[in-house]
Amino acid sequence: MKHNPLPRLDSSPDWRERLLPHCRLKPGEIWLDPEGKHRVGCLDATDPEAIGALVGRSSPVLAIQDPPYNLVAFERRSIQEYIDWSRRWVRITQSVLAEHASLYVWLGADQNDGFQPLADFMVMMRQEPVAARSFVTMRNQRGYGTQKNWMAVRQELLYYTKGNPVFNVEAEYTDIPKILRGYYKEVNGVVTENLERGKADTIRAGNVWVDIQQVFYRMEENVSGCYAQKPLKSIQRIVRASSNPRDAILDLFAHSGSTLLAAEILDRSCLTADIDPIFCEIAIRRVEHYRRHGKLGWQNGHPFESEVPEPVTNGHTAPARPGRGLPAERTLF
Ligand SMILES: C[S@@+](CC[C@H](N)C(=O)[O-])C[C@H]1O[C@@H](n2cnc3c(N)ncnc32)[C@H](O)[C@@H]1O
Repeated sequence: MKHNPLPRLDSSPDWRERLLPHCRLKPGEIWLDPEGKHRVGCLDATDPEAIGALVGRSSPVLAIQDPPYNLVAFERRSIQEYIDWSRRWVRITQSVLAEHASLYVWLGADQNDGFQPLADFMVMMRQEPVAARSFVTMRNQRGYGTQKNWMAVRQELLYYTKGNPVFNVEAEYTDIPKILRGYYKEVNGVVTENLERGKADTIRAGNVWVDIQQVFYRMEENVSGCYAQKPLKSIQRIVRASSNPRDAILDLFAHSGSTLLAAEILDRSCLTADIDPIFCEIAIRRVEHYRRHGKLGWQNGHPFESEVPEPVTNGHTAPARPGRGLPAERTLF
Protein backbone atom coordinates (compact mmCIF):
# COMPACT_ATOMS: atom_id res chain seq x y z
CA MET A 1 0.00 0.00 0.00
CA LYS A 2 1.15 3.50 -0.81
CA HIS A 3 2.57 5.47 2.13
CA ASN A 4 2.25 9.10 1.18
CA PRO A 5 -0.19 10.83 3.55
CA LEU A 6 -0.55 14.54 4.14
CA PRO A 7 -0.41 15.67 7.77
CA ARG A 8 -3.42 17.37 9.41
CA LEU A 9 -3.82 20.50 7.37
CA ASP A 10 -5.19 22.62 10.22
CA SER A 11 -1.92 22.37 12.09
CA SER A 12 0.65 22.31 9.31
CA PRO A 13 1.34 25.89 8.20
CA ASP A 14 4.25 24.85 6.00
CA TRP A 15 2.09 22.40 4.08
CA ARG A 16 -0.70 24.94 3.75
CA GLU A 17 1.71 27.41 2.18
CA ARG A 18 2.83 24.76 -0.24
CA LEU A 19 -0.67 23.67 -1.29
CA LEU A 20 -2.41 27.05 -1.53
CA PRO A 21 -0.97 27.96 -4.97
CA HIS A 22 -2.64 24.79 -6.33
CA CYS A 23 -6.12 25.78 -5.13
CA ARG A 24 -8.42 27.15 -7.81
CA LEU A 25 -10.78 29.10 -5.53
CA LYS A 26 -10.00 32.30 -3.70
CA PRO A 27 -12.20 33.49 -0.82
CA GLY A 28 -15.56 34.57 -2.21
CA GLU A 29 -15.35 32.46 -5.37
CA ILE A 30 -17.64 29.64 -6.44
CA TRP A 31 -16.74 26.60 -8.58
CA LEU A 32 -19.45 25.66 -11.03
CA ASP A 33 -19.37 22.00 -11.93
CA PRO A 34 -18.80 21.68 -15.72
CA GLU A 35 -21.37 18.84 -15.64
CA GLY A 36 -23.88 21.33 -14.21
CA LYS A 37 -24.66 19.32 -11.06
CA HIS A 38 -22.82 20.84 -8.10
CA ARG A 39 -21.35 24.10 -6.77
CA VAL A 40 -18.49 24.56 -4.31
CA GLY A 41 -17.91 27.97 -2.75
CA CYS A 42 -14.96 29.28 -0.78
CA LEU A 43 -17.34 31.02 1.56
CA ASP A 44 -18.09 31.79 5.17
CA ALA A 45 -21.15 29.86 6.37
CA THR A 46 -22.22 32.88 8.41
CA ASP A 47 -22.29 35.28 5.45
CA PRO A 48 -25.91 35.44 4.21
CA GLU A 49 -25.11 37.09 0.87
CA ALA A 50 -22.36 34.63 0.03
CA ILE A 51 -24.54 31.63 0.86
CA GLY A 52 -27.43 33.20 -1.05
CA ALA A 53 -25.17 33.42 -4.11
CA LEU A 54 -24.12 29.77 -3.68
CA VAL A 55 -27.70 28.54 -3.48
CA GLY A 56 -29.07 30.84 -6.20
CA ARG A 57 -32.47 29.67 -7.34
CA SER A 58 -32.02 26.13 -6.03
CA SER A 59 -34.23 24.96 -3.24
CA PRO A 60 -32.34 22.40 -1.13
CA VAL A 61 -34.53 19.83 0.61
CA LEU A 62 -31.72 18.64 2.84
CA ALA A 63 -28.87 20.28 4.76
CA ILE A 64 -26.11 18.22 6.35
CA GLN A 65 -24.00 20.50 8.52
CA ASP A 66 -20.80 19.42 10.21
CA PRO A 67 -19.36 22.56 11.78
CA PRO A 68 -16.00 22.62 13.51
CA TYR A 69 -16.62 21.78 17.13
CA ASN A 70 -13.40 20.50 18.51
CA LEU A 71 -11.68 22.31 21.31
CA VAL A 72 -8.70 23.18 19.15
CA ALA A 73 -10.73 25.18 16.66
CA PHE A 74 -12.58 27.07 19.34
CA GLU A 75 -9.96 27.32 22.01
CA ARG A 76 -10.39 31.03 22.32
CA ARG A 77 -14.16 31.12 21.91
CA SER A 78 -16.46 30.91 24.87
CA ILE A 79 -19.40 28.55 24.61
CA GLN A 80 -21.71 31.56 24.26
CA GLU A 81 -19.69 32.87 21.34
CA TYR A 82 -19.84 29.44 19.75
CA ILE A 83 -23.61 29.26 20.16
CA ASP A 84 -24.08 32.79 18.76
CA TRP A 85 -21.92 31.81 15.80
CA SER A 86 -23.94 28.60 15.32
CA ARG A 87 -27.23 30.48 15.40
CA ARG A 88 -26.00 32.55 12.45
CA TRP A 89 -25.35 29.63 10.11
CA VAL A 90 -28.46 27.80 11.35
CA ARG A 91 -30.65 30.80 10.40
CA ILE A 92 -29.00 31.13 7.01
CA THR A 93 -29.52 27.41 6.44
CA GLN A 94 -33.19 27.66 7.33
CA SER A 95 -33.67 30.66 5.08
CA VAL A 96 -32.36 28.89 1.97
CA LEU A 97 -33.96 25.49 2.57
CA ALA A 98 -37.13 24.51 0.74
CA GLU A 99 -40.48 24.85 2.48
CA HIS A 100 -40.33 21.14 3.38
CA ALA A 101 -36.78 20.18 4.29
CA SER A 102 -34.51 18.31 6.69
CA LEU A 103 -31.60 19.68 8.67
CA TYR A 104 -28.96 17.35 10.10
CA VAL A 105 -26.19 18.65 12.37
CA TRP A 106 -23.15 16.68 13.51
CA LEU A 107 -21.91 17.99 16.83
CA GLY A 108 -19.56 16.93 19.59
CA ALA A 109 -20.35 16.55 23.28
CA ASP A 110 -17.22 16.97 25.37
CA GLN A 111 -17.63 14.80 28.45
CA ASN A 112 -14.89 16.79 30.17
CA ASP A 113 -16.85 20.00 29.71
CA GLY A 114 -20.55 19.55 30.52
CA PHE A 115 -21.21 17.83 27.14
CA GLN A 116 -20.60 21.06 25.29
CA PRO A 117 -21.20 22.35 22.71
CA LEU A 118 -23.97 19.81 22.07
CA ALA A 119 -25.85 20.67 25.26
CA ASP A 120 -26.19 24.42 24.64
CA PHE A 121 -26.68 23.91 20.91
CA MET A 122 -29.74 21.73 21.59
CA VAL A 123 -31.16 24.38 23.91
CA MET A 124 -30.50 27.11 21.31
CA MET A 125 -32.30 25.07 18.64
CA ARG A 126 -35.45 24.95 20.75
CA GLN A 127 -35.95 28.64 19.90
CA GLU A 128 -35.68 28.02 16.15
CA PRO A 129 -38.70 27.30 13.94
CA VAL A 130 -37.76 23.68 13.24
CA ALA A 131 -39.01 20.47 14.82
CA ALA A 132 -36.55 18.27 16.68
CA ARG A 133 -37.01 14.75 15.27
CA SER A 134 -34.17 12.47 16.24
CA PHE A 135 -30.89 12.26 18.05
CA VAL A 136 -28.65 9.76 16.31
CA THR A 137 -25.45 8.37 17.78
CA MET A 138 -22.81 6.84 15.56
CA ARG A 139 -20.24 4.63 17.24
CA ASN A 140 -16.60 5.35 16.51
CA GLN A 141 -14.04 2.59 16.54
CA ARG A 142 -11.41 4.79 18.16
CA GLY A 143 -12.07 6.92 21.19
CA TYR A 144 -10.62 8.98 23.97
CA GLY A 145 -10.88 8.50 27.70
CA THR A 146 -9.13 7.97 30.96
CA GLN A 147 -8.88 5.06 33.36
CA LYS A 148 -11.66 6.69 35.40
CA ASN A 149 -14.33 7.26 32.81
CA TRP A 150 -16.07 5.46 29.96
CA MET A 151 -14.19 5.81 26.73
CA ALA A 152 -15.84 8.40 24.48
CA VAL A 153 -16.67 6.64 21.22
CA ARG A 154 -19.76 8.44 20.02
CA GLN A 155 -20.52 11.00 17.34
CA GLU A 156 -23.78 12.84 17.71
CA LEU A 157 -26.11 13.70 14.85
CA LEU A 158 -29.20 15.86 15.36
CA TYR A 159 -32.11 15.64 12.96
CA TYR A 160 -34.56 18.56 12.59
CA THR A 161 -37.31 19.20 10.10
CA LYS A 162 -38.90 22.23 8.50
CA GLY A 163 -42.45 21.64 7.22
CA ASN A 164 -43.14 18.06 6.22
CA PRO A 165 -40.14 16.72 4.29
CA VAL A 166 -39.59 13.35 2.65
CA PHE A 167 -38.42 10.51 4.88
CA ASN A 168 -37.72 7.34 2.95
CA VAL A 169 -38.21 4.99 5.82
CA GLU A 170 -37.49 1.90 3.74
CA ALA A 171 -34.28 3.32 2.32
CA GLU A 172 -31.87 2.34 4.99
CA TYR A 173 -31.27 -1.15 6.21
CA THR A 174 -28.06 -2.14 7.95
CA ASP A 175 -26.08 -5.30 7.21
CA ILE A 176 -27.02 -6.59 10.66
CA PRO A 177 -29.13 -9.76 10.42
CA LYS A 178 -32.54 -9.82 12.02
CA ILE A 179 -32.17 -12.59 14.59
CA LEU A 180 -34.27 -11.64 17.57
CA ARG A 181 -37.76 -13.01 17.67
CA GLY A 182 -40.47 -11.15 19.51
CA TYR A 183 -42.71 -8.10 19.02
CA TYR A 184 -45.80 -10.26 18.62
CA LYS A 185 -48.76 -8.56 16.97
CA GLU A 186 -52.24 -9.75 16.10
CA VAL A 187 -53.31 -8.98 12.55
CA ASN A 188 -56.75 -10.22 11.36
CA GLY A 189 -56.91 -12.66 14.24
CA VAL A 190 -53.51 -14.18 13.44
CA VAL A 191 -50.64 -13.67 15.86
CA THR A 192 -47.31 -13.14 14.13
CA GLU A 193 -43.90 -12.14 15.37
CA ASN A 194 -41.52 -9.66 13.80
CA LEU A 195 -39.44 -12.13 11.74
CA GLU A 196 -42.58 -13.27 9.93
CA ARG A 197 -43.88 -9.75 9.36
CA GLY A 198 -40.63 -8.11 8.24
CA LYS A 199 -39.79 -7.75 4.55
CA ALA A 200 -36.02 -7.68 5.02
CA ASP A 201 -33.54 -10.11 6.54
CA THR A 202 -31.55 -7.28 8.11
CA ILE A 203 -32.56 -4.61 10.61
CA ARG A 204 -33.43 -1.04 9.71
CA ALA A 205 -31.03 1.71 10.72
CA GLY A 206 -32.38 3.17 13.95
CA ASN A 207 -30.95 6.09 15.87
CA VAL A 208 -27.84 4.23 17.04
CA TRP A 209 -25.46 3.40 14.21
CA VAL A 210 -22.97 0.68 15.07
CA ASP A 211 -22.42 -0.60 11.56
CA ILE A 212 -20.35 2.21 10.09
CA GLN A 213 -16.57 2.05 10.00
CA GLN A 214 -14.76 5.22 10.99
CA VAL A 215 -12.44 6.38 8.22
CA PHE A 216 -8.82 5.36 8.54
CA TYR A 217 -5.80 5.27 6.25
CA ARG A 218 -6.40 1.80 4.82
CA MET A 219 -9.83 2.68 3.45
CA GLU A 220 -10.13 3.79 -0.16
CA GLU A 221 -12.27 6.75 0.89
CA ASN A 222 -9.57 8.14 3.17
CA VAL A 223 -8.51 11.71 2.35
CA SER A 224 -5.29 12.37 4.21
CA GLY A 225 -4.85 15.90 5.52
CA CYS A 226 -8.54 15.99 6.47
CA TYR A 227 -8.82 15.60 10.20
CA ALA A 228 -12.61 15.37 10.52
CA GLN A 229 -13.78 13.28 7.59
CA LYS A 230 -17.16 11.60 8.04
CA PRO A 231 -17.65 8.08 6.66
CA LEU A 232 -19.31 8.17 3.26
CA LYS A 233 -21.72 5.47 4.37
CA SER A 234 -23.12 7.73 7.10
CA ILE A 235 -23.72 10.58 4.65
CA GLN A 236 -25.25 8.26 2.05
CA ARG A 237 -27.61 6.95 4.72
CA ILE A 238 -28.84 10.49 5.45
CA VAL A 239 -29.08 11.39 1.76
CA ARG A 240 -31.10 8.29 0.87
CA ALA A 241 -33.49 8.72 3.77
CA SER A 242 -34.07 12.46 3.48
CA SER A 243 -33.97 13.26 -0.24
CA ASN A 244 -34.84 11.87 -3.64
CA PRO A 245 -32.78 11.64 -6.83
CA ARG A 246 -32.04 15.02 -8.43
CA ASP A 247 -32.86 16.95 -5.23
CA ALA A 248 -30.49 19.68 -4.08
CA ILE A 249 -28.49 19.22 -0.88
CA LEU A 250 -26.66 21.84 1.16
CA ASP A 251 -23.46 21.44 3.20
CA LEU A 252 -21.75 24.62 4.42
CA PHE A 253 -18.70 22.83 5.93
CA ALA A 254 -17.37 20.74 3.06
CA HIS A 255 -13.88 19.74 4.31
CA SER A 256 -13.11 16.43 2.51
CA GLY A 257 -16.24 16.73 0.35
CA SER A 258 -18.08 13.70 1.75
CA THR A 259 -21.52 15.22 1.12
CA LEU A 260 -20.48 16.31 -2.37
CA LEU A 261 -19.31 12.78 -3.22
CA ALA A 262 -22.43 11.17 -1.72
CA ALA A 263 -24.56 13.51 -3.84
CA GLU A 264 -22.58 12.62 -6.97
CA ILE A 265 -22.95 8.88 -6.33
CA LEU A 266 -26.65 9.10 -5.46
CA ASP A 267 -27.60 11.46 -8.30
CA ARG A 268 -28.35 14.53 -6.19
CA SER A 269 -27.03 18.04 -6.68
CA CYS A 270 -24.75 19.43 -3.95
CA LEU A 271 -24.28 23.08 -2.96
CA THR A 272 -21.34 23.12 -0.62
CA ALA A 273 -18.87 25.58 0.89
CA ASP A 274 -15.81 25.75 3.06
CA ILE A 275 -14.07 28.85 4.35
CA ASP A 276 -10.69 27.30 3.58
CA PRO A 277 -9.54 27.28 -0.09
CA ILE A 278 -7.53 24.09 0.53
CA PHE A 279 -10.57 22.11 1.65
CA CYS A 280 -12.59 23.54 -1.26
CA GLU A 281 -9.92 22.28 -3.64
CA ILE A 282 -9.84 18.87 -1.95
CA ALA A 283 -13.64 18.57 -2.21
CA ILE A 284 -13.59 19.48 -5.91
CA ARG A 285 -10.73 17.09 -6.61
CA ARG A 286 -12.55 14.33 -4.75
CA VAL A 287 -15.52 14.47 -7.10
CA GLU A 288 -13.24 14.82 -10.14
CA HIS A 289 -11.15 11.83 -8.97
CA TYR A 290 -14.33 9.76 -8.58
CA ARG A 291 -15.52 10.71 -12.06
CA ARG A 292 -12.16 9.88 -13.62
CA HIS A 293 -11.16 6.78 -11.70
CA GLY A 294 -14.25 5.61 -9.81
CA LYS A 295 -12.31 5.96 -6.52
CA LEU A 296 -13.82 7.29 -3.31
CA GLY A 297 -10.62 8.89 -2.02
CA TRP A 298 -6.85 8.45 -2.08
CA GLN A 299 -6.42 5.86 0.67
CA ASN A 300 -2.94 6.56 2.05
CA GLY A 301 -1.98 8.86 -0.79
CA HIS A 302 -3.35 12.41 -1.20
CA PRO A 303 -5.15 14.76 -3.59
CA PHE A 304 -2.11 16.90 -4.50
CA GLU A 305 0.20 14.11 -5.57
CA SER A 306 0.59 15.43 -9.10
CA GLU A 307 1.96 18.76 -7.85
CA VAL A 308 3.72 17.67 -4.67
CA PRO A 309 6.51 15.16 -5.18
CA GLU A 310 6.39 11.81 -3.46
CA PRO A 311 7.76 12.23 0.05
CA VAL A 312 10.35 9.88 1.49
CA THR A 313 9.74 8.04 4.75
CA ASN A 314 11.71 9.55 7.59
CA GLY A 315 9.09 10.93 9.98
CA HIS A 316 9.43 14.71 9.53
CA THR A 317 6.48 17.08 9.22
CA ALA A 318 8.24 19.50 6.90
CA PRO A 319 6.98 19.75 3.32
CA ALA A 320 8.37 16.94 1.25
CA ARG A 321 11.01 17.72 -1.31
CA PRO A 322 12.35 15.09 -3.67
CA GLY A 323 14.43 12.72 -1.64
CA ARG A 324 13.77 14.43 1.71
CA GLY A 325 11.08 14.84 4.36
CA LEU A 326 7.86 12.99 5.16
CA PRO A 327 4.62 14.49 6.31
CA ALA A 328 3.55 13.25 9.72
CA GLU A 329 1.14 10.35 9.88
CA ARG A 330 -2.42 11.57 9.92
CA THR A 331 -3.36 12.38 13.47
CA LEU A 332 -6.27 10.32 14.65
CA PHE A 333 -9.00 12.30 16.35
C1 LIG B 1 -15.76 19.13 10.84
S1 LIG B 1 -15.20 19.68 9.29
C2 LIG B 1 -16.41 19.03 8.19
C3 LIG B 1 -16.15 17.58 7.81
C4 LIG B 1 -16.94 17.06 6.62
N1 LIG B 1 -18.30 16.73 6.99
C5 LIG B 1 -16.30 15.82 6.02
O1 LIG B 1 -16.86 14.73 6.11
O2 LIG B 1 -15.23 15.93 5.46
C6 LIG B 1 -15.51 21.40 9.39
C7 LIG B 1 -15.05 22.25 8.20
O3 LIG B 1 -15.64 23.54 8.36
C8 LIG B 1 -14.79 24.52 7.81
N2 LIG B 1 -15.18 25.84 8.38
C9 LIG B 1 -14.82 26.37 9.58
N3 LIG B 1 -15.42 27.57 9.75
C10 LIG B 1 -16.19 27.79 8.66
C11 LIG B 1 -17.03 28.85 8.24
N4 LIG B 1 -17.25 29.94 9.00
N5 LIG B 1 -17.66 28.73 7.05
C12 LIG B 1 -17.46 27.65 6.25
N6 LIG B 1 -16.64 26.63 6.59
C13 LIG B 1 -16.02 26.69 7.78
C14 LIG B 1 -13.39 24.02 8.18
O4 LIG B 1 -12.43 24.57 7.28
C15 LIG B 1 -13.55 22.50 8.06
O5 LIG B 1 -13.10 22.07 6.81
